[in-house]
Amino acid sequence: MNLETLILAAGKGTRMKSKLPKVLHKVGGKPMLQHVIDAAKRAGSSREVVVIGAGAQLVEESIDGVEFVLQAEQLGTGHAVLSARKNFAASEGTVLILCGDTPLLTSKLLQKFVAAHESSNCAATVLTAEMPDPKGYGRVIHEADGTFQRIVEDKDASDDERKIREVNAGVYCFDVKKLFGALDKVSNDNAQGEYYLPDVLPILKGDGEKICVFPADYCEETIGINTRVQLAAAERILRQRKIVELMNDGVTIVDPHSTFIDVDVEIGQDTIIHPNTFLEGATKIGDDCNIGPGVRFVNMIVGNNVTAQFSYCHDAEIYNDVTLGPYVHIRPGTKVSDRVKIGNFVEIKNSTIGEGTKLPHLQYIGDSDVGAGVNIGCGTVTCNYDGKNKHRTKIGDNAFIGCNTNLVAPVTVGDGVYIAAGSTITKDIPKDNLAIARARQTNIPNWSDKRK
Ligand code: UD1
Ligand code: CA
Repeated sequence: MNLETLILAAGKGTRMKSKLPKVLHKVGGKPMLQHVIDAAKRAGSSREVVVIGAGAQLVEESIDGVEFVLQAEQLGTGHAVLSARKNFAASEGTVLILCGDTPLLTSKLLQKFVAAHESSNCAATVLTAEMPDPKGYGRVIHEADGTFQRIVEDKDASDDERKIREVNAGVYCFDVKKLFGALDKVSNDNAQGEYYLPDVLPILKGDGEKICVFPADYCEETIGINTRVQLAAAERILRQRKIVELMNDGVTIVDPHSTFIDVDVEIGQDTIIHPNTFLEGATKIGDDCNIGPGVRFVNMIVGNNVTAQFSYCHDAEIYNDVTLGPYVHIRPGTKVSDRVKIGNFVEIKNSTIGEGTKLPHLQYIGDSDVGAGVNIGCGTVTCNYDGKNKHRTKIGDNAFIGCNTNLVAPVTVGDGVYIAAGSTITKDIPKDNLAIARARQTNIPNWSDKRK
């Protein structure tokens, strides 16, 4: 089967009241349009054409791996499909049509839907769902004999028609040649003055074609997002779905209600996620970790057996058996090797930290290469910025940095070096040296008595 997909995403999304095009609003950590594209790809689609219009440039910049076609004026979903006519001129067989605003659709449902269409002799199949609250959706009207008649939009429906709870999910399979053959006959004589895609269905039927209806048995999947209230509802459903998936794969989520995990996050077996934890973006976590309470990881690569609490880490890598927190901030470009301990109130930016190194409390390490087995005393600061440029600090293996040391970069501290507490280091220190860089202490006898 060669499945091609057309996704409608040109609409303004007026009801979102937003400067951002509707389909770029994120749910579960990624734009709703991306969810739809990913579901189509996973369902076996070999090509996705996306119709864009409102905010076209931004949509094109934000989404990869698809073909775009411009619908310059948004004259309705039927018109949107027409603007992609050229893209499908050479196509044959089935085209799957999706809307960019139904992010909860799963590839499993799409596969079943496409298979049902392909095994039928229908020119079109429309996915429908029973909605507890069908407001805003097109309602499905059947003939007395139960066959499909037409879809009536909410704004065009009579009071009786509005009581129908079977709605059009906005998901269709068409015989591509028959679709484009009939689409020109759709008019815009309706409440919104738009060319409605569902209106092509009764036209095909009038031409003697069969139209199939495929009812989804799970209405949540087919929710279309038109408002921010619906966006929040979809967010809740997606997150719940992700958490259940993780638990079924062997991850412990102590409190699903206070845990927020983006849909593309991966977590290994027997890792425990504690409450108030946010795992976002492309984060990957290994096995046997203890994450949280109170952790936010964004785009983090984390190894096995890592413990982290009350910390924020983003765009960095942490290897195995590392302990983090409380109150650690790890910033982009940082690599933390095996068995490192990073304790209270430590910030690390764009640095590599060698195996078994300890940063127990109150450090700022920026633009640094720290070796293995290093002990960095409390209050140590790398002075990496001279007001214009950033400079690197290098610390060799097994160095001992005394408390409250300032390392004025660029500077290199050799292997095995000792630095006395309170030093301000401005010059390189050769291997195995002791460096003391502080004023000598003077004790003045009987000073207090004289002052009295
Ligand atoms: C549409 C269906 C409705 C269905 C519902 C399911 C029509 C006329 N109505 O209504 O029957 O129940 O979806 O969620 O199709 N778009 C374009 N160009 C346009 C207009 C829309 O690309 O000119 C895109 C939008 O970006 C959106 C999708 O088509 O992704 C659906 O448009 P929307 O305005 O949300 O349609 P609904 O009113 O929800
Ligand atoms: Ca919609």
